[in-house]
Amino acid sequence: MSKAFQKCLNLKYPIIQAPMAGVTTIDMAAQACRAGAMASLPLSHLDFRIAKDFEQFKSMISQFRTHVANESLEKNINLNFFCHDILNKPTKLQIDNWVKLYERSLNIPIDVDKINFKNGNVSFKAFERDDALHDFFQYLADEFKPKVISFHFGHPSKSTIKYLQRHGILIFVTATSMKEFHLLAKLGIDGIVCQGYEAGGHRGNFLVNDSKNDENLSTAQLVKRAVTELAVMRDKGHVYYIPLVIATGGIMDSKDISYMLSQQADGVQLGTALLGCNESNASENFSKPFTSHSETRMVNIVSGKPARTILTRFIEHLLTTFQGEELPPYGYMYNAFKQVKRTYPELTNFLLAGEGFQSVQSDIATDQLITKLGKSIAKN
Ligand SMILES: Cc1cc2nc3c(=O)[nH]c(=O)nc-3n(C[C@H](O)[C@H](O)[C@H](O)COP(=O)(O)O)c2cc1C
Repeated sequence: MSKAFQKCLNLKYPIIQAPMAGVTTIDMAAQACRAGAMASLPLSHLDFRIAKDFEQFKSMISQFRTHVANESLEKNINLNFFCHDILNKPTKLQIDNWVKLYERSLNIPIDVDKINFKNGNVSFKAFERDDALHDFFQYLADEFKPKVISFHFGHPSKSTIKYLQRHGILIFVTATSMKEFHLLAKLGIDGIVCQGYEAGGHRGNFLVNDSKNDENLSTAQLVKRAVTELAVMRDKGHVYYIPLVIATGGIMDSKDISYMLSQQADGVQLGTALLGCNESNASENFSKPFTSHSETRMVNIVSGKPARTILTRFIEHLLTTFQGEELPPYGYMYNAFKQVKRTYPELTNFLLAGEGFQSVQSDIATDQLITKLGKSIAKN
């Protein structure tokens, strides 16, 4: 079993509590951290070009440190950003199509004038383009340096990567295919989060954008191929260092964790497994067991990017009504959906979760679950 990840990050367990936008709470992250895992805070909802959002970020970190209340552990945190290509505003045609789709599938009137088609998920690339990272970098240098900063949907510029690494921060990026893994390894990324197709939430793909050309590799296959590829790259002298390989997707219990470690993954990132924990914003949705007929689907017409979600009535209606029309881009469409959801919460049940959702444990604190999983890894 590889201990590189634990050693390099001084963790009790080779576990990362996955960043889960909208679901992870500060308490959840603090408990994961105190229990001996790497905590994560999702920051994709913040626009660092706006002073108020940057203040919110600082307040989140301060609350996290207070909750952890242990200076030797508080740096075991991963700050997570979305790093997709910068997308254009939606066209009138895309907005009209979206309104018609929602009216048809939900059978409700949509007043387009009341929907704000503003980008709700501004990419880290926009912060780089608009030179909006000065305060953030200063904060990392003067106030608080996390051990890891991670990116989903792509990677930042070489200069940002080198800057953060020079300041002793490890950069983690999600890969969903070997093409992406290879590129990230050559770029000098410190930890590559190998996300299999079974994973819950948004798929972090950034090179293969057409699902027809996507091999949709499982977590186990991606990890096995990644480990083999690294050995080849090292032999050929293509990488001067060896990135950490983190497995994510469908890992629900200690046996799953042990299996990934036996395949030479350095660590695992758990998302769905933690959805039912008391501190999760989604815990209510997982308080009762699902029927054995419940399923998940990979769906790209809610947010604009593929995401694995439980097949609720809302998703069923949307999928049967959708005729392939052009819809607004990610960020804009997701934000519009969230506005409809606020008015019609019972009609718009969008529950991001992975294939392992049937075995989510509820009524358990995050620190208890991490400790239980961590302790039983060694026994397997
Ligand atoms: C509800 C939910 C929200 C997520 N949000 C994020 C996010 O903000 N950033 C990120 O890098 N990954 C996010 N993910 C993906 C996780 O990091 C991870 O890849 C995934 O949960 C692994 O699969 P699993 O859910 O089967 O454990 C999310 C996953 C879920 C289930």
